[in-house]
Amino acid sequence: MDNLSYSKKENINEQARFYKTDIFDKKAVGDIFKKEKSQIVIHKVAQIDVCKSVADPFFDAEVNILGSVNVLNACVKNKVGKIIGLEA
Ligand SMILES: NC(=O)c1ccc[n+]([C@@H]2O[C@H](COP(=O)([O-])OP(=O)(O)OC[C@H]3O[C@@H](n4cnc5c(N)ncnc54)[C@H](O)[C@@H]3O)[C@@H](O)[C@H]2O)c1
Repeated sequence: MDNLSYSKKENINEQARFYKTDIFDKKAVGDIFKKEKSQIVIHKVAQIDVCKSVADPFFDAEVNILGSVNVLNACVKNKVGKIIGLEA
């Protein structure tokens, strides 16, 4: 899952299933988790632009905090065994 705001589709492994979505889109993220039934989740999505986070801290919190809560919530609901990432 990525909204491609800081990445390119051509850099994604061809064997990976890719979903273009915003991490804070609760329904979209929930639907993907339900469909994929993943046992392990690697969470590396982040808004990393410091200038943007200073200019718009609410947007930063939406992506980095609420987005992460969204992923964690979907992990709990879908009984994901392990989550990797989130270090900042
Ligand atoms: N790069 C490093 O050396 C490093 C080291 C330690 C920790 N980290 C942490 O890893 C995380 C990612 O860093 P990175 O360097 O890989 O950044 P990155 O910008 O390369 O990757 C973040 C990805 O998140 C995507 N994204 C941004 N907003 C999104 C949204 N709303 N919905 C869906 N996708 C969205 C971007 O398109 C991008 O592909 C950060 O939390 C960072 O602090 C990075």
